[in-house]
Amino acid sequence: MAPSRISPTPEELPLSQTYNGGYLKTSHGIKHDYADTKVGGVNGILASQAQKTEKFGDWRDEFFSEGYTVVKGAIPRAKAIQYRERAMEWFDKFDFGFDINDKSTWTKEHLPVMMNAGMIMGYCATHEAWAWEGRCECGVIEPFAKLWGTDELLVSFDAVNITFPGRKDVEWTPWPHIDQSPTRKGLACAQGIINLSESGPLDGGLQLLQGSSELFEQFFQENPPKPKAKDAPGQFDWYGFTLEDVKWFEDHGCKLIKVEAEPGDVIIWDSRTVHYASLPQSETIRTIIYATYTPSKLATPEDLALKASIFHRYEGTTHWPHCNIFAQGKAMRGDSICPGEREEPLEKPELTDQVLKLAGVLPY
Ligand SMILES: [Fe+2]
Repeated sequence: MAPSRISPTPEELPLSQTYNGGYLKTSHGIKHDYADTKVGGVNGILASQAQKTEKFGDWRDEFFSEGYTVVKGAIPRAKAIQYRERAMEWFDKFDFGFDINDKSTWTKEHLPVMMNAGMIMGYCATHEAWAWEGRCECGVIEPFAKLWGTDELLVSFDAVNITFPGRKDVEWTPWPHIDQSPTRKGLACAQGIINLSESGPLDGGLQLLQGSSELFEQFFQENPPKPKAKDAPGQFDWYGFTLEDVKWFEDHGCKLIKVEAEPGDVIIWDSRTVHYASLPQSETIRTIIYATYTPSKLATPEDLALKASIFHRYEGTTHWPHCNIFAQGKAMRGDSICPGEREEPLEKPELTDQVLKLAGVLPY
C-alpha cells in the first residue's frame, strides 16, 4: 500500500456510541430488513478473481488484498475541477438562502436536505447532466470493466455529495457500515466514488477499516446480524456497526484509515469493507459523485424494469446497480416533502445510448 494515500484517522474525531446518526426519511419510507427481500444478483465473478494467485500488476492487487484502492487520474484533473465547478453552480441555484460567501448560511435551513451532512439523494441531483457526464467518463468506467471482465455495465444513480466544512449545526456521529447484506456471501460488489475535490488527511472523505472485507463472514458467524436500527437505511444491502463491532475488527488487525485522493481519482472499495465518511477539518468543500458499475447480465428483468422506471422519474436508487433496487423518493424536510423538491433535473442529461444502457433502459 502506498503510505502517501492514507493517513490515520484524526484522534479528535473518536467513534461515538451512536452508529446510525442522521439517516434520512424519504417520501417512500422504504423499510427492509435482511430476511425479507430476495438476495438476487449473486455472482462469483469478483470472488473468483480475488482467488487468483497470479498478480495483476495494477491497482487490482490492492483492491483484492486490502478491500479498496484509488485509481489515479481516471479523469484529468482539470476536467474533474470543471465537474466540481458545475456541481457548485448547480448547488448555488437552490433557493433556501444559501450564500457560499456567508458561512452563517451554511446551516440546515439554508441547504438542501442531506444525509450525514453531505449526501444529496433527492432533488433529482443524481440525474443532473454533470453527474451523468461524470459517470460516463471512459476513465471512470474502464476500471470497473476491467474488474468485471465486461463493458456491458449498469451504473448506480444514488447520490452526490457536497459536504461543507465548519458546520456548527450538525450533530455528526460516525456511522460505520457495509453496503452488503450479511446474507450475501463473498465479494459481490465493488463500489465507487468519483472524487472531484482534494481529499487529503484533513479534508472530508472516505474512512474505512482496512482489511475488514476479509473478515466479513467470520464477523457474522461470531456476531449474528442484529435487526436494523429504527432509522437506518431501509435498503437491503446495508448493515450498521456499533462501536463494539468496530473494536472487534480492530482486535482482528484492521486499522481505521482515511483514503486520500485528488480531483479526478476514482476510489473503489469492496462493499464488505466497513466504512463511513469523515467531515472536513480543512476549508475544502468535499465534492463527489457516487458511481458503482456491475454487469448488466446480473440484473433480473424485473429489477431492470424497476431501475428504468426510477430513471424515468429522475429519482435515486442505491449503491447497487443491478439489484437491491429501491427508489429513494423525494427529500423530506421534517414530515413533508421539501418545498425545493423537483420533478426533473435543472440540466437534464443527454439521453445517449450509453446513458440509457448504463441506466438499464436500453439492453446491450
Ligand atoms: Fe456506504
